[in-house]
Amino acid sequence: NKKTLVLGIETSCDETSAAVVENGAILRSNVISSQMEVHRRFGGVVPEVASRRHVERITEIIQQALNDAHVKQEDLSAIAVTQGPGLVGALLIGVAAAKAMAFAANLPLVGVHHIAGHIYAAHLMQPLQFPLVALVVSGGHTELVYMSDHNRFERLGRTRDDAAGEAYDKVARLLDLSYPGGPEIDRLSKEGKPIIDLPRAWLEPDSLDFSFSGLKSAVINLLHNAKQRGEVIHRADVAASFQESVVEVLTEKAVRAVRKQGVKHLVLAGGVSANSRLRQELLHRCQKENIHLTIPSMELCTDNAAMIAAAGTFRYLDGQTDGLDLNAKPDLSL
Ligand code: KG4
Ligand code: ZN
Repeated sequence: NKKTLVLGIETSCDETSAAVVENGAILRSNVISSQMEVHRRFGGVVPEVASRRHVERITEIIQQALNDAHVKQEDLSAIAVTQGPGLVGALLIGVAAAKAMAFAANLPLVGVHHIAGHIYAAHLMQPLQFPLVALVVSGGHTELVYMSDHNRFERLGRTRDDAAGEAYDKVARLLDLSYPGGPEIDRLSKEGKPIIDLPRAWLEPDSLDFSFSGLKSAVINLLHNAKQRGEVIHRADVAASFQESVVEVLTEKAVRAVRKQGVKHLVLAGGVSANSRLRQELLHRCQKENIHLTIPSMELCTDNAAMIAAAGTFRYLDGQTDGLDLNAKPDLSL
């Protein structure tokens, strides 16, 4: 009846994070060092800068996660690390750190898919109930995933171009808002109205895929034409109209996926799930349709190592461990 204590490590993008999770469900510590301020002046994440930052911070972040959890290295059951997808140079730092520690302490090593991590963030709130559908929306991903049980993932749909968060960030830049643009558009939208007609990319009638690049182009054209005609266009209205289009498509496709799979549980995760309009709309729809919706807390929605430790625990318990030849895979599939 031993506790399963897993150390998680996440360095796939611009957050250096380490965490300890007990039995895949209890958060013992979650240390997150964001590089947001460093990347802000470049208007986006600079891969080379991200890697260097991870190298500088990773050792102390891991130590702090163990300290915060009052756990010694020898108490650990396994080490879980994000194997991909993500920036290859950034992933490599976490994978190298995890391998070194697993070798030195003779601990099992578990490579985790970043999206699996985002979904398991919900398990740290309340036990996942299967079967379920998850909508993962972040700066790098927009995916609908079906899970019949622990460790069993089936991709139902994904973005064909930009991720939802990426679209937010790009449109924010067009509106002269700072990076990351999601929270800025969220805020500005509250001062405007969604009165501008922007496209919704439904794609083929039964498709659960997404596309946001057409919407971004529509905003570019809108701003360009207004400028040429000397028309005044309210940025807040553009933000609200853009947000309405994104939220409408995300909500509708998530509900369609739930219906198609005949499930009762929906998990919303990833950085964009911080969006106030998306939360409001999805909650409303789920109440109406009798769908049980779980949204992890903000700290667990954005990139963090606790979600990697949680997902890694279930892989470890299922015997899905990796050797010391584990390698970072920027295009790892679920
Ligand atoms: O999960 P995350 O922290 O990192 C990735 O794995 O990408 O997600 C970051 C993304 C950014 O694109 C950011 O603009 C977006 O999440 N985001 C939001 C909001 N807060 C963060 N998008 C819309 N509304 C928000 N309130
Ligand atoms: Zn992420």
